[in-house]
Amino acid sequence: MAIARDILRFFHRWLADPRHIGAIVPSGRALADLITRHVHGRSGRVAEFGAGTGAFTRALLSRGVREANLVLIERDEEFATCLRRRFPRAHVLTMEAERFGEWAQAERFAAGAIVSGLPLLNLTHDSRRHILSGAFSSLCGDGALYQFTYGLTCPVPGALLEHLQLEAICMGRVLRNLPPAAVYRIHRRRSISVAAFA
Ligand SMILES: C[S@@+](CC[C@H](N)C(=O)[O-])C[C@H]1O[C@@H](n2cnc3c(N)ncnc32)[C@H](O)[C@@H]1O
Repeated sequence: MAIARDILRFFHRWLADPRHIGAIVPSGRALADLITRHVHGRSGRVAEFGAGTGAFTRALLSRGVREANLVLIERDEEFATCLRRRFPRAHVLTMEAERFGEWAQAERFAAGAIVSGLPLLNLTHDSRRHILSGAFSSLCGDGALYQFTYGLTCPVPGALLEHLQLEAICMGRVLRNLPPAAVYRIHRRRSISVAAFA
């Protein structure tokens, strides 16, 4: 029943704002499992961008992340209200993920991992740059951002990864999702020691 209600709510929001909602239905269980695969109770505080109705949030909780350690960023008021009702101990922020870096700095928020359901391909280059630089200013040393896409390649262009000194690896594709999707793990580029080649 809750699933049917979420599908209707999503479709309704998508009709109102297709560019930002970016999908006609919430992500399925298989995609939620893949995008949260590396996140666990010891990841510490975890941020989720574009949490929607909570498809990835539920998977994060079942991986052992404490609800109180979750910060859910969602620009859509209706989805944010639904998230507050469903996850009352999580910190739900009704705002654009572009402002996350500013917020994290003001709050001294350090994330162990960030999971993103944002429709990055629908956002401008400037938005993507702001979102990624904000995310990596908050992520701890080897923390990563997990991003899904319906596209065939990484939704962050190579030049932007290069500019921010990041790398992306594809964690796999999920065919059992509407539409099928791929997940990328984006992390800081590891510097290669010159001594290793001496
Ligand atoms: C493709 S849906 C994914 C929702 C959910 N994570 C899922 O997988 O079912 C994208 C979500 O990102 C939100 N969103 C889009 N642009 C955003 C932005 N700039 N900042 C925060 N949320 C945004 C939308 O409102 C929507 O809830």
